Amino acid sequence: MGYRARLRVWRGDADSGELRDYEVDAEEGEVVLDLLHRLQATQCPDLAVRWNCKAGKCGSCSAEVNGRPRLTCMTRLSLFDTDETITVTPMRAFPVIKDLVCDVSYNYVKAREVPAFSPPEGLEPGEYRMQQRDVERSQEFRKCIECFLCQDTCHVIRDHSENKEAFSGPRFLMRVAELEMHPLDSHQEKGGDRPEEARGDHGLGLCNITKCCTEVCPEHIGITDNALIPLKERLADRRYDPLTMLFRRKRS
Ligand code: SF4
Ligand code: F3S
Ligand code: FES
Repeated sequence: MGYRARLRVWRGDADSGELRDYEVDAEEGEVVLDLLHRLQATQCPDLAVRWNCKAGKCGSCSAEVNGRPRLTCMTRLSLFDTDETITVTPMRAFPVIKDLVCDVSYNYVKAREVPAFSPPEGLEPGEYRMQQRDVERSQEFRKCIECFLCQDTCHVIRDHSENKEAFSGPRFLMRVAELEMHPLDSHQEKGGDRPEEARGDHGLGLCNITKCCTEVCPEHIGITDNALIPLKERLADRRYDPLTMLFRRKRS
C-alpha cells in the first residue's frame, strides 16, 4: 500500500549546503534509492545522486542513511516506520561535489599505491596452480564491490582527514593482505615486503581493530578478522622473529 514518505536530503556543493525536507510517494517493497529517483523525477530535477546497477553490485549508490553508511539501492523502506523521517547525506569521509555525490578519488590514489600481483618469473598464465583452500581464502576479498563504505566509516580518516596521506583504509589494506596470502605472489622474492609496506606505506598501525569497517560491508567480508588481523600477525612475525631480525640488521 502506498504512503507519503518523509525524506530529508542534504543539498549543496563543496562550499555550502543544508538539509532539506521533502515528502515523496512511496510503495511497499521499495528502497531508499527509489525515493531519491522519485524526488528527482517529480520535485528536484537537479538532485545529484550516483547509482548504476540498482542491485547492490556496482558500489555507486553509497551514502549515509540516518547516519549509517549504506548502499541506498539495498536499503529497504521497511526498515523505517512509515511516519519516520529518512535522512540521506553524502559519505562524510570524502569531499562533496554536489548533493549526494562525493569525490572518492582518494581511493583510486590509494589503489594505485599497492604494488600489483607479481607472479614468479617465467610462469605463463595457463600454468598457475593453487590449492583450493588458497583460492577460497582470496575469493572472499574479491567479492569487494568498491563501494567505499568501509573507508567512509573508519574513524582513522572519517574523523581525521589529516590521516589520509598515511592511511590507505580497510579496503586497500585488505588488498595488500589478499596479495600477501596469494601463494603465487613473488613480490617478496623480488625485494618487496607486503606486511612491511602495509605498515610503512599504508598505515596498518593506525588501525586499532574497531571492526566498524566489517559491520558496514554490504558483501559481509570479514575485513578485520580475515584480512587486517592476519596482516598484523604476519607483520609481528616478521619483525620479532629472531632470524628475520638478524637478516634485517645485516641488510641495513
Ligand atoms: Fe565496500 Fe566491503 Fe569492498 Fe569495503 S570491502 S569497499 S565495504 S564491498
Ligand atoms: Fe578502521 Fe576497520 Fe581498523 S574501521 S580502525 S580499518 S578495523
Ligand atoms: Fe549499484 Fe547500488 S546502484 S550498488
